[in-house]
Amino acid sequence: MIRIDIATLFPEMCRAVLSESIIGRAMKAGYIDIRCHNIRDYAGNKHNRVDDKPYGGGTGMVMQAQPIYDCINAIRAEVGEDVGIIYMSPQGKPLTQQKVKELARLDRLIILCGHYEGIDCRVTEELGAQEISVGDFVVTGGELPALMLTDAIARMQEGVLPNTDAYSRESHYEGLLEYPQYTRPEVWKGRAVPQVLLSGDHAQVEKWQEQMSWQTTLEKRPDLLTARKKDGSPYAKYLDFSVNAEGFPDEADLAVLRLARQKLLTSAEKKMFVKINKYLAEKLPDKRDNIHILIKSEARDMTDMYLSLCDILKAHKVNFNIIFTDFAGKIIREYDDFLVTEPEK
Ligand SMILES: C[S@@+](CC[C@H](N)C(=O)[O-])C[C@H]1O[C@@H](n2cnc3c(N)ncnc32)[C@H](O)[C@@H]1O
Repeated sequence: MIRIDIATLFPEMCRAVLSESIIGRAMKAGYIDIRCHNIRDYAGNKHNRVDDKPYGGGTGMVMQAQPIYDCINAIRAEVGEDVGIIYMSPQGKPLTQQKVKELARLDRLIILCGHYEGIDCRVTEELGAQEISVGDFVVTGGELPALMLTDAIARMQEGVLPNTDAYSRESHYEGLLEYPQYTRPEVWKGRAVPQVLLSGDHAQVEKWQEQMSWQTTLEKRPDLLTARKKDGSPYAKYLDFSVNAEGFPDEADLAVLRLARQKLLTSAEKKMFVKINKYLAEKLPDKRDNIHILIKSEARDMTDMYLSLCDILKAHKVNFNIIFTDFAGKIIREYDDFLVTEPEK
């Protein structure tokens, strides 16, 4: 069972949230152990002051290092010195499901919440705390971010949800978004539930869900398809095409045509593009989104041909990556968001 200790100036705020719903029930049932500690208890002065004016001036107050340090040390005395410490901070690495999975495997964790203008930076250095952000925006205190992180970790613990499917088949777990969900009635405001979901054919339902998961991701968050990898292989399903004997794409309609954005290209670029591949002259698509292509080819020298294409995409700030594999699917070379990685050995 994981134990999470939250160090905060507002323990009651955290307890109130954690006592509700699924997490509250899981705590009562003993599947998770979450404790909230008041940093003010470690103020060490008769006025219980834990903050002071920032050196160098500026608005607001900064939380002092010593009370935080003493609070964390008291927790460490209970759970062990080697416990990981996370400081919720808008300057940290953005939280992802990948990170949640990693943290959910631990058996102990301390989460530190800042407030006001933040905390004296020396304390996180001294504690070796890792900074995690819940997004590129600022809230008034670390409590809501800490509760989000705690909730995300807690729901992955055994016994908290009915089974592992309850979290592993959801958005982000495998780098994709979930398929659309429906419940009764079958028709609502003229919108019917897709027939396949009523068919009782389990295999067909699974197939539909997988397909919709890809489609939803492509529509709502194409950046995830570009960025994510599953088991080390890029998600390239939608724009996978092969190269025929003459070295030209068979399925240019499907893939390469998507690269030439009529609204984006200047006529000079279009001409250049036509030179790159004569099949790209017609039918240019009009929608800007992220691009992900997998080129199956033994021909390494094709790389140069597509480099001009990369330049055009870069110039227009279109996110893309291109992966060259051999016919067996082994990656030869990968261009990832303007980044050229070395071929796999
Ligand atoms: C008002 S913020 C301080 C922001 C800080 N002065 C800065 O500009 O980076 C107060 C506290 O809220 C928490 N906080 C604010 N935004 C956050 C975010 N996006 N993710 C995680 N914690 C956040 C942090 O614990 C922080 O110490």
